Amino acid sequence: MQEILQELDRRRDEARMGGGEKRIAAQHAKGKLTARERIELLLDEGSFEEYDMFVTHRCADFGMAGTRMAGDGVVTGWGTINGRMAYVFSQDFTVFGGSLSETHAKKICKIMEMAMKNGAPVIGINDSGGARIQEGVASLGGYADVFQMNTLASGVVPQISMIMGPCAGGAVYSPAMTDFIFMVKDTSYMFVTGPEVVKTVTNEIVTAEELGGAKTHTSKSSVADGAFENDVEALSALRRFFDFLPLNNRQKPPTRPFFDSQDRNDLSLDTLIPDNPNKPYDMKELIVKLADEGDFFELQEDFARNIVTGFIRLEGSTVGVVANQPLVLAGVLDINSSRKAARFVRFCDCFNIPILTLVDVPGFLPGTAQEYGGVIKHGAKLLFAYGEATVPKVTLITRKAYGGAYDVMASKHLRGDVNYAWPTAEIAVMGAKGAVEILYRSELGDKDRIAARTKEYEDRFANPFVAAEKGFIDDVITPHASRKRIARAFASLRNKDLQNPWKKHDNIPL
Ligand code: HXC
Repeated sequence: MQEILQELDRRRDEARMGGGEKRIAAQHAKGKLTARERIELLLDEGSFEEYDMFVTHRCADFGMAGTRMAGDGVVTGWGTINGRMAYVFSQDFTVFGGSLSETHAKKICKIMEMAMKNGAPVIGINDSGGARIQEGVASLGGYADVFQMNTLASGVVPQISMIMGPCAGGAVYSPAMTDFIFMVKDTSYMFVTGPEVVKTVTNEIVTAEELGGAKTHTSKSSVADGAFENDVEALSALRRFFDFLPLNNRQKPPTRPFFDSQDRNDLSLDTLIPDNPNKPYDMKELIVKLADEGDFFELQEDFARNIVTGFIRLEGSTVGVVANQPLVLAGVLDINSSRKAARFVRFCDCFNIPILTLVDVPGFLPGTAQEYGGVIKHGAKLLFAYGEATVPKVTLITRKAYGGAYDVMASKHLRGDVNYAWPTAEIAVMGAKGAVEILYRSELGDKDRIAARTKEYEDRFANPFVAAEKGFIDDVITPHASRKRIARAFASLRNKDLQNPWKKHDNIPL
């Protein structure tokens, strides 16, 4: 018996060594942790249950028969993050460059299937040279199997991708189908075709970092939702992020003890809105002041900064926040901000996370670039996402809510459950200047008359009361009491039950 146990230990030790000391040292020299070190940091201590440690590839081509390594380049299993379950796969770059073989793919698919069955999120740590070249089409088939599982798991359990090394070619499409992608600065990249191919085909000379590094994907392409300085920072941020998420689509968002008074008044909010309606202010100040303990996890911070998305907690329970940001482009809606917010709203709705919408929006951005780029279809994504969402929706208009953008931003008409406005709100088809120029074109030469017309328009529309008279606004609230009023609104919606008509699935304007 002793010998049998020793053999088990020997096999385990061998598997834990991955590609061996030299390759582990090379991984460390690049500033990267190994697949197992990453899992250790991500999960609660001692909680990891590993599966398929002894799986090896089945390839005999190109001398592969003699190079079988236990685990085949990916470590899989489940564990807990602050006591809550998560399935994990972590590609091991020290074994065949973390490349994906038929069996490597099978290991990933196995835990994805278990995750769906048992209702826990999947976290994929990507660090791979792509398809296992020696396996050819078997590897491509393996990728397709993973893609299929990503599709089936979408909306069933949250899927999170952490890119911690190369991720190139078709391999990028698995993370792309997950709910969130995070990257590590300088050591990770994602692209469909690398710098060499780009140079050959388009004559562009670009580095891997410029083409597909963390900065590119968090600020230009919006492929990634966040970037971190190194592996350790990334994995600890992921633990914090995970705490906001429900485990699956049948659960309510997680709640945890909170130490912030529910009826905390914040007098500084009474002066957040500047006297001059054209002066910006920072909407994030409001978000942080509303949140339990000021804790806000922002997503896509560097992309489409005219809209802010992320998670807070109110009375210990997760709330998704979508907020126009007057500091950037006056908070206007455009192609990128609509896409960014629409995807976030859909994630929240998939996973029963209530949505708080903070509105200060002058309308949609005009211009040929926007029209040619399809702002009609992209704007419709956000409209559609809000319109189909059945989760509790609370909206607060702080200042401008003009034109179509008023409708879009979780208005009463899109089944907003509780719609509040500050007394500073202006809900109208457009601002006074634009309105007067259209309505009184013939009087434009007469400055006094135009000033009087403008005042008349402002008196009538530059306030929340016309909307409140119609019941489009449920109440006009004092800014300092916002946290209490919003928290109570969400509390009143905890048992909300709303179903959309039966359909196979909708046809959101993609
Ligand atoms: C098999 C691979 C591999 C691969 C790397 N290795 N990529 N083995 N298949 N795809 C092995 C190397 O042979 C080496 O083995 C070890 O991993 C480390 O690789 P290095 O090249 O030494 O590391 P580094 O210098 O850091 O370069 C990393 C790399 C490079 C940039 C990822 O290895 C590379 O360019 N690999 C090929 C990438 C590629 O073209 N993949 C196919 C993409 S197409 P030893 O034994 O020396 O340690 C694709 C299609 C997917 O993925 C389609 C889905 C639909």
